[in-house]
Amino acid sequence: MAAHTSDMAEPNRRDFLVIAAGAFAAVGAAAALWPAIDQMNPDAAALALSTTEVDLAPVAEGQSITVLWRGKPVFIRHRTPDEIKEAQSITEANIGELRDQTAENPMIAADALALDKNRTLPGKEQWIVLIGVCTHLGCIPQGQAIGSPRGDYDGWFCPCHGSHYDAAGRIRKGPAPRNLDLPTYAFISDTKIKIG
Ligand code: FES
Repeated sequence: MAAHTSDMAEPNRRDFLVIAAGAFAAVGAAAALWPAIDQMNPDAAALALSTTEVDLAPVAEGQSITVLWRGKPVFIRHRTPDEIKEAQSITEANIGELRDQTAENPMIAADALALDKNRTLPGKEQWIVLIGVCTHLGCIPQGQAIGSPRGDYDGWFCPCHGSHYDAAGRIRKGPAPRNLDLPTYAFISDTKIKIG
């Protein structure tokens, strides 16, 4: 990762915080509902209510935002062309390099391979949407704010015990057993997604 100086990092971090604060504000009502729904042992109808819509238009290439969905952080990253290329460099031929070779994507078959195309939506490869909870013991990985550690594979880094995830959220190094999970989500307009 490129070195940075504090005077470079500061404006970027502020940009991120402004966007993150806006995203939290937008989903605040839905997130606040969750504890009440949770206590009722939700049936499908209650679960259907707990969706979150997020406008991605303000998220520039290279930026990430975090939103809350069903009490969990969801990482949304607008990937750069380099990150997409890196993520797509895992193919059927070299998938053996991955510890967890399944897509961990509830929207497709359970045994689908962890190729980048199986962890993104068709035509929207620039967006990766992940549940931001480390699959080891549940810490929240770093790498969302510009300048925060992204690990050896340009994705996310969990500082609790040193798990490195790549730009598709796949576990590449460290103790975590599985790729970061994807939530169910869909684009409801060109720049808006609905999670859940
Ligand atoms: Fe993330 Fe242990 S909880 S590495």
